[in-house]
Amino acid sequence: MVTRNVAVVSQKGGVGKTTTAVNLSVVLALRGYRVLVVDCEPQGDASAQLGVGAMSGATRSAGPSACVDVTTRGADLEPQRDILVRGLDVIPASPRFPTRASEARRLLRSTRAQVGASNVDRDYDFIIADCPPTSAPTALAAMVACSDVLIPVQLAPGSLRALRGIITVIERLGAEHGVHIAPLGFLGTFYRENAGPNPKQALAALRRAMGRLVFDTVIHDSQEVACAVNGRPIVLEKPRARGAREYEALTDEVLARATRNPNDKESRR
Ligand SMILES: Nc1ncnc2c1ncn2[C@@H]1O[C@H](COP(=O)(O)OP(=O)(O)O)[C@@H](O)[C@H]1O
Ligand SMILES: [Mg+2]
Repeated sequence: MVTRNVAVVSQKGGVGKTTTAVNLSVVLALRGYRVLVVDCEPQGDASAQLGVGAMSGATRSAGPSACVDVTTRGADLEPQRDILVRGLDVIPASPRFPTRASEARRLLRSTRAQVGASNVDRDYDFIIADCPPTSAPTALAAMVACSDVLIPVQLAPGSLRALRGIITVIERLGAEHGVHIAPLGFLGTFYRENAGPNPKQALAALRRAMGRLVFDTVIHDSQEVACAVNGRPIVLEKPRARGAREYEALTDEVLARATRNPNDKESRR
């Protein structure tokens, strides 16, 4: 299959991006796909959840530049191989990130030049970039580099406001950089069935706004998911738990969407 590059993004922190990137990647690898996780978040949460230390300052910069390198040039960045599961490679976070606007602009310019000429990413079926909130230039660069975006939405009042923001960001970035950035899907997270009408209303509003782009799978708020960190993501730690089954179901949906022809826009609707 063609490599699918997926950036997991949202405008907000704490919505389940890292947990989703990690569990999705692990399940894909368990099913035999070759997966590369690029940890674009300086804090290195995805690296930590996968039990991998962040890169030292002396090591090459990772993050979106790594994502761009790996997705477009093959680069000399050596991922750490076979983390937790055979076939799951990780480029850990690096403290060296472009935080100044000028650096971010340079990164984005080179991204634009490189994306599209992708022919060296055939080692992987999926490259999954775990991103900081979209206020960080690194998240924008990763979106341009990846072109598929998976957007977790915390099911709570007001969550749709952030959603409109990210759609604007996607459209603006795509137009500025001449790339087609498309939502692979919106994923409801932190769903609480018994917490009054608010979560249900938030989910209904999300489905009304985004239609079939919203995954059928919803990730419930669960202590088991929250606790399974530091090298023990829930899909490995408690594969029978509801949270693990939900991430399995999400993986089914991601595979169904990702293996469709990426140019067939109708199939995304
Ligand atoms: N479904 C869930 N239920 C309960 N807690 C969760 C769930 N998903 C993630 N968490 C916890 O919520 C916090 C934020 O999740 P995280 O995936 O790090 O979000 P983000 O990457 O968007 O900042 C973490 O402490 C994580 O363990
Ligand atoms: Mg995170």
